[in-house]
Amino acid sequence: MTADSWAGVPPSFPHGFVIGAATAAYQIEGGHDADGRGPSIWDVFSHTDGRVQGGDTGDVAADHYHRLEEDLDLMAGLGLHAYRFSVSWSRVQPEGRGALNQAGLDFYRRLVDGLLERGIDPIATLYHWDLPQALEDRGGWPARDTAYAFEEYAAVLGAALGDRVHMWTTLNEPWCSAYLGYGSGAHAPGRTDDEAALRAVHHLNLAHGLAVRELRRTVTHDAAYSVTLNFRGLESVDESSPEAIARIDALAHRSFLDPMLHGRLSERLVSDTAAITDWGFVRSGDLDLAHQELDVLGVNYYYTNAVRIWDGQGPRLRDDNHRETAGSPWPGSRDVEFVPDPGPRTAMGWNIAPHGLERLLVSLSAEFPDLPLMVTENGAAFDDVATDGAVHDQDRVDYLRRHFEAAASAVRRGVDLRGYLVWSLLDNFEWAWGFEKRFGIVRVDYETQRRTVKDSGQWLAATIAAHDAARRTH
Ligand code: FCB
Repeated sequence: MTADSWAGVPPSFPHGFVIGAATAAYQIEGGHDADGRGPSIWDVFSHTDGRVQGGDTGDVAADHYHRLEEDLDLMAGLGLHAYRFSVSWSRVQPEGRGALNQAGLDFYRRLVDGLLERGIDPIATLYHWDLPQALEDRGGWPARDTAYAFEEYAAVLGAALGDRVHMWTTLNEPWCSAYLGYGSGAHAPGRTDDEAALRAVHHLNLAHGLAVRELRRTVTHDAAYSVTLNFRGLESVDESSPEAIARIDALAHRSFLDPMLHGRLSERLVSDTAAITDWGFVRSGDLDLAHQELDVLGVNYYYTNAVRIWDGQGPRLRDDNHRETAGSPWPGSRDVEFVPDPGPRTAMGWNIAPHGLERLLVSLSAEFPDLPLMVTENGAAFDDVATDGAVHDQDRVDYLRRHFEAAASAVRRGVDLRGYLVWSLLDNFEWAWGFEKRFGIVRVDYETQRRTVKDSGQWLAATIAAHDAARRTH
C-alpha cells in the first residue's frame, strides 16, 4: 500500500471517539457443541437443507472460540479502541432458562479480560439473533415468555461480567430477528407468519426494556446501556414513493424506535398492519417497560432503498436483497416494491450510499437531541482476491473511507457521535449467505483458519493511529 492511498485520512473526530470493529457470536465462534453449549436456532436452521447458501453452517466458522488469544492479539495489533462482540445465549444457558454453563461464562470472561489487558473497550451485545433452540421450541419471540427468559439471561450476564464490561447492548437489529426470522423466513427460525413477526416485534421491545432494567440492577461497573438498530436510507422514485417510504419507515424503524425511545406504539404501524393484528398482545404497562433510559443508540447502516408502490406490472421484488422469499419481511406492505438502484453496489447487491449515513445521523440526532449515537456496524462485502499473503481490497478501503467521511461531516453538523465500529473484524458466516460473502478487514482462510490483515485492516489501523496522534497534539 502506498502513502497516497492514505490521502484524506483521517476525518476528524472528537476527543474520546472510539474506533473499532464488531463481530457476532454465531458468525465467528464455531465450537458449536464445545464445553456444554446448547443449540441455537441458527444451528438448527443452518443444518436444514436449503436454508443457507452452499449448506454452510457455523459449526466451525472462524473458530474464534479456540483462537481467542490470537484474535485478541490481532485486535491489539490493529490498535482498536473498542471491540463489539455478542454473547451466545445457549453457550451460557444451554436451555435458554435456568442452568448456567460455567464454561461458557468463562469464555466470555477470558474474552473481556483479554480485551481489558490490551486496553480495548469491551462492548457486549446480549443478543445477535441466536436464540436458544429450547426457547424457540416453546414459541420463540412471538411468545411473551421469551421476553422474560431474556430478562433472566440479562441478569446472569450482568452478574457475571458487570464488573468489567464498559458498554452493554441488549439487542442487535431486532428488525432482522422479527421480520426475517418470522416474516420472510430468510433467517432462523425460518417461519413465514405475518402475525408472528409482529408479535416478535413487541416481545423484542419488551425484552429490551426488561434487560436494561436487569442490567442496571446487576451491573457494578459504571457502564453505558444501549440498543443497536438497523436503519436503511429510503429514497423516492415516483409519486407513489412517499406512501411506500412511510410504510417501510414504520415497519423498519418506528417498530422499535417508538416503543424503546418514545414509549409508544407507532400509529402508522398499527394502522398499516390492522388486517393482520389488533396488537392486543401489547399489555398495559409494556410500553413503559420497553422505554428505558439509554446512554447510546447504536446505529447499523449499510445502504439505501428506493421504494414505490407496485403498479402490478412485471415481477414484484419482495425483499431488500431483491430476493424472492416464501414470506415477506414487510407485513401489511407487500405492495411496496424495492426498485433496484443503479449502483455502484457491494457483493451483497447493496448500493454504496454514504450520503445516507450522514442524513440518517443528522435526522436521528434531531429526533433524539440528548441521546449520543454510535455507528455500531458499517462495512462491505466484496469479492476479495488473496495474493501472496495480502488482500488488496481497495474497494473496501474506499467504502470505509467514504462512510467515515460522511460520519465526520455529520459530527461537523453537530451530531453527538461517540464512535464507529467497522463490520467486521473477521471474514465470517454471513447468515443465509454462508461463507461466500466476506466482510472482514481481516481475511480468514477457512481451510487453515489463517488470518491475514487486508489493506482495509491496515487502513483502519492507520486511521486509528492518526486519530490518536491528532488528539495527543490538540
Ligand atoms: C447486519 C448484521 C451483521 C452482518 C451485517 C452484514 O445486518 O447485524 O451480523 O450480517 O449485517
